[in-house]
Amino acid sequence: MYKDDFHLTSGCYLLNHSVGRALKTGHDDFNAHFFAPWQSTNKEPWQQWLGTIERFTGALSELFNSKKELFCPQVNLSSALTKILMSHPRFTGTKCRVLMAQSDFPSMGFAMQKALPDGAHIDYIPHDLDLTDITIWQQYIKPDTDLVFISHAYSNTGQQAPVKEIAAYCRRNNTLSLVDVAQSAGVLPLDLSTVGVDFLIGSSVKWLCSGPGAAYLWVSESQLGVCQPKDVGWFSHQNPFEFDINHFDYHSTALRFWGGTPSIAPYVIAGHSIAYFAKLGAATVRKHNLALLSQLRESLSDYMVSPRSEDACSGTAILHFSEAQKAVLDALTDADISVDERAYGIRVSPHIYNDEHDIARFIEVIKKTL
Ligand SMILES: Cc1ncc(COP(=O)(O)O)c(C=O)c1O
Repeated sequence: MYKDDFHLTSGCYLLNHSVGRALKTGHDDFNAHFFAPWQSTNKEPWQQWLGTIERFTGALSELFNSKKELFCPQVNLSSALTKILMSHPRFTGTKCRVLMAQSDFPSMGFAMQKALPDGAHIDYIPHDLDLTDITIWQQYIKPDTDLVFISHAYSNTGQQAPVKEIAAYCRRNNTLSLVDVAQSAGVLPLDLSTVGVDFLIGSSVKWLCSGPGAAYLWVSESQLGVCQPKDVGWFSHQNPFEFDINHFDYHSTALRFWGGTPSIAPYVIAGHSIAYFAKLGAATVRKHNLALLSQLRESLSDYMVSPRSEDACSGTAILHFSEAQKAVLDALTDADISVDERAYGIRVSPHIYNDEHDIARFIEVIKKTL
């Protein structure tokens, strides 16, 4: 039934780790909240536009179960990470030590390498280690580690990190933790009131079906007051409309990370779409996703290189067909089934608008090819 809510074509779309499909109601909602305030009166539209940002942070607060004041719109995760790193005294000293993984999205590594000060040190968990295993993290978190960067879901391996256990270990070690939810938001439930991380960065383009440009950061209440972002603008000021060049006070909420004149359009689309998914609940999406992943596994178990257990797998299955890989990819393309390929195999991500017929068709095409 969810199929009717989204723009889908006649083929089968399983690329939800890349870009989720748009909601059909998105066009009308966009016209009502972006163009109408701009076109239909002689008043300037800022008040209504800023209301759509409240809708965006409000939808995030429902999805992740935390106060909306702790979320701030961001352009993308790289920029959000840079802003966080440059804002916090633990990350600006030359002795700063950070842990991340070789399997993190490269852009996160680039931002980390450039935003940390000279002399800071980054440890990486190697590619071949099991990131779903808390004991691996415990081996790599050192007594002087300042920050642990955790991808909730790894886009190339289909692994899910044990975020709550890592965050708890970090707390006992006096280490801060940051979770990247780019690949998990909307499909893997995450409750910020209990998970115990200090920072979160995410986007809306994948499972939240909201298009690019509507990213966000979240800062825990305990860290917010400590953060003094460098990349600021009038919307980071407690009173943006004061207009006194000699007076700046950090906004008391996470909006201190906002910056200059904000873009609006991506957040209109995302506020609408995230509200849809917050109402549906990530647990519902995940249950459906797991059912389709298990249908896939039952027939193609020998080819699945991503984790099998519910706790360890992300929303994406990774399949590798050895020497038949190219033939399989070609056959899927001919059958108008949309997937892609990365280092470890073919990525398949069933969403709420996919059903058992989609997976059955996917399996049939592959079985015919092998
Ligand atoms: C785990 C993860 N983090 C981050 C990103 C994207 O980062 P940015 O928003 O800076 O492009 C992706 C993109 O696919 C991703 O998979």
